[in-house]
Amino acid sequence: MKVFSILVLLVAGLRPTVNAQYINQHIEPKVQNLLSQMTLEEKVGQMTQVDFSVISVQDGQNAENPIDSAKLESAIVQHHVGSILNAPTTPNNRAQPIEKWRTITQAIRDASAQTRLKIPVIYGIDAIHGGTYIQNAVLFPQAISMAATFNPELSFQEGEITARTVKASGLDWNFSPVMDIGRQPLWPRLWETYGEDVYLASAMGKAFIRGHQGDDFSAADKAPNCLKHYVGYSYPLNGKDRTPAWIGERALREYFLPGFQAGVLAGAPTVMVNSAEVDGIPGHANYHYLTEILRGEMGFTGFTVSDWEDINRLYTRDKIAATPRDAVKIAVMAGVDMSMVPLDFTFYDLLLDLAKSGEVPMSRIDEAVARILKVKLQTGLFERDQPTLPAEAGLANEASNAINRQAAEEAIVLAKNQSLLPLSKQASVLVTGPAANLLSVMNGGWSITWQGNIEEWYPQDKLTLLRAIQQKTSGKVTYVGGQRFGDEINIEQAVTEARQHDVVVLALGEKTYTETIGNIDSLELDPVQLQLARAIFATGKPVILVTFGGRPRIITEIAERAQAVLLGFLPGMEGGAAMADIVFGDVNPSGKLPLSYPRATNDITPYDHKPMEAFEANQYKPLYPFGHGLSYTRFETSGLKLNKHTINLGESVHVSVNVKNAGQMTGKEVVLVYLNDKVGSVTRPVKQLKAFKKIELEPGQQQTLNFTLTAEDMSFIGVDMQRIIEAGDFKVMVGDETAHFSVIKP
Ligand code: BGC
Repeated sequence: MKVFSILVLLVAGLRPTVNAQYINQHIEPKVQNLLSQMTLEEKVGQMTQVDFSVISVQDGQNAENPIDSAKLESAIVQHHVGSILNAPTTPNNRAQPIEKWRTITQAIRDASAQTRLKIPVIYGIDAIHGGTYIQNAVLFPQAISMAATFNPELSFQEGEITARTVKASGLDWNFSPVMDIGRQPLWPRLWETYGEDVYLASAMGKAFIRGHQGDDFSAADKAPNCLKHYVGYSYPLNGKDRTPAWIGERALREYFLPGFQAGVLAGAPTVMVNSAEVDGIPGHANYHYLTEILRGEMGFTGFTVSDWEDINRLYTRDKIAATPRDAVKIAVMAGVDMSMVPLDFTFYDLLLDLAKSGEVPMSRIDEAVARILKVKLQTGLFERDQPTLPAEAGLANEASNAINRQAAEEAIVLAKNQSLLPLSKQASVLVTGPAANLLSVMNGGWSITWQGNIEEWYPQDKLTLLRAIQQKTSGKVTYVGGQRFGDEINIEQAVTEARQHDVVVLALGEKTYTETIGNIDSLELDPVQLQLARAIFATGKPVILVTFGGRPRIITEIAERAQAVLLGFLPGMEGGAAMADIVFGDVNPSGKLPLSYPRATNDITPYDHKPMEAFEANQYKPLYPFGHGLSYTRFETSGLKLNKHTINLGESVHVSVNVKNAGQMTGKEVVLVYLNDKVGSVTRPVKQLKAFKKIELEPGQQQTLNFTLTAEDMSFIGVDMQRIIEAGDFKVMVGDETAHFSVIKP
C-alpha cells in the first residue's frame, strides 16, 4: 500500500546541452544586430520555406543546374525566403549526383550572398536513413530496424555518416529523427519510428543526434537535426496517415513527450510539427503543445517548422480557419516559426498583411525570426561560402558500408528456429516470394525517391536476398518470382521446384511506401502471398520465412508452419547480404523486436500494457513479444542483485546481473532491465524498459552487467499531470530473474 505521494521536479534544471553562455555572448548580439536592420519583408521571408520546384527550371531532369535563375531571384531577393527544401523535382524527386547537389546549393548560397543583409538560406532535406536523395550515399536500415539493433552506438555512427553526407552535398539541415513512438502498426510511417517503447526510442534518437550534431553542429562534418513530428502524429486512432489521435494529456506526457524531451536535451535546434491533430486540435494550431509545453516546460529554444502545406490545411482540410489568412495567423500565434508553405509565396503575402495590420504583433515576428537566425548562426551558415567537405566525404566507402552492414546484421530478428538454421552451404534452395529479389523492399520510403519504389534506380551492385544467397552457397539455387512486387508468381512452378530442393526461402512482405500513399485497411498480407505460402507448405519441404516491410503484417499461420522465421523489416542497402549471412551462419543474429508483433490484425497490445489488458479473459499474446529475438547460441541470465532493498524516495538502486554464453557460438545479447511499480495512484504498466546493454560473448564467457535505476525511472505522470514518484514496492525483471525493492519516505 502506498501512503506517500511526493512531487519530484525531475526535469527541473535540465536544459539542452547547447552552450547557453556562448549563445548569449556570441550569437544573440549578432541576432539582435541583424534583426535591427531587417525590414518587415525580410523578416517574413525568413519565416518562409519553399520547395525546390519553386526555383526549378521546367524540366530539371537533364539540367546540370536545374535552377531557374529568375525564379531563384524571385524567391531569395524579392521574397527573402529563409529556407528551401527537397530534391530537384523531375522526375520523382530522384536522388542526384553529389556534384549536382553542390552546384545547386552553391547557386543558392551565391544568390543569398547578393542580398542586402546576406542572410543565408538553410537548405533542409529528409536524410532519414542516410543520404536519401544523394546518389551513391549509404542507405542504412530505417529507424524501426535501427531500433531492432538495440545498439545506440550504431545509431550514433549512422548520425555521423549521414551528417557528413548532408554537408558534403552542400546541404545544411536534416529533417530527422522521428521521435514519436510507434504504437499503431497500421500507420504507414511506423517504420520511421524507433518502435513502441519510450526508453528505446529515446536512446536511439539521442545517439543519432549526438553523432549527427556532435558538440557543435557548425563543425565541417556536422549538421542540425529536426525532431518530428511534434507530437502524437504517430498514433492515429484509425491507423490512416494524417488522421486524428486521441491522446489524453497524461498519456502524452508519459509516452509521447519523453522522446522529444530527449531530443531537445541532446541539443536538436529544430522541431517539425505534427501534420495531423490530437484531441481535436491540429498540431499547427496547438499553442499548449507548441509554446507552453515545448518551450515553457521542455526548454526548447530553437525554431519550429511546419510540415508540408500544413498551415494552409488549417483552412482547406481542418476547417478551423475561415480563410487562408486566418490559418496563417492561428499557426504563427500558436508557435510555428517557419512555414513549409511550400509551393508558392502565399504564406509570405498573408503574414506580411497580418503583420502590417497588427493582427500578428511584431513581437511575435521578431521572436520567430530571432530563433531562425540563431539556428542559422549556430549552424555556421554565415561563414560558409562553399561546401565544407569534399564530395567524396558524402559517398559510400568501405568503412561506411561496413558500418551499414553491421547495422543490417544486428537489425534482423530471428523469431523462430526449429533447428533448421544456420543452413548448410551445400543445401539446395528454392527462393520464392515477392520480396526475394528487390532492393526497394528492404529500403522503404525515402530511398532514392520519396516513395522508394523505383527499383531500376537502385545501385545494381547491391545484393537482393536472392543474389546474396546465390553468392553464398555452393548448393543449387533456383528462383521462382517476378520482377516487381505484385507481379504474378507461378505457384505451380514454385511447388514443382520446391519438391526438387532441400529447403524453401519464402520471402514475403510489403512493397515500399510512405505517408498517406501507404495507407492500408488491414494488416493481413495480401491473399496471394498466403496462397503461395500454403502451396509451398503442402509440399512438406522445410520453409524459412523471411519478411521485409515497414509494418508487422500478419504472418501467424505462415510463421507457425515455417521451420524458421527471420523478420527483416527495412534493413537497408546491405539487408540482402546481411540476411544471407544469417541464413548460412556467417553471422549470429542478435536483433530484438522493437515492438510487439501482433498475432491478429486487431491484437494490438504493447508490452508495457496496463494490468487490465492482461486480466481475466484479456491477454498479452502477440505472435512475438517486444524484445524477442533468438540467437544461434544460448545466453543464460543469473544472479540478479540489487544493492539495496529499501531506498529513500529520490534515491537510486544499483542492479547487477550475470550473463553467460552457454552455447557454442560467439554471439551478441541484449540485456533488458524492466521495472514495475506494483501499486500506483495512476494505473502502472505491467513492466517498462528502463535500461539495456548489448554485449558480445564468446562461448563459455560470462560477464556481470551493472545498471542504475534512478528516481526518474521510478516516476510517472500522476493524477495532477505532474511527474511524481510514490513510495511503495517495485519489481525489477531481467531475463527470467526478478528482484524487489521498496521506496520509503524518509
Ligand atoms: C513529411 C515530413 C517531411 C516533409 C518534407 C512531409 O510530407 O511529413 O516528414 O520532412 O514532408 O519532405
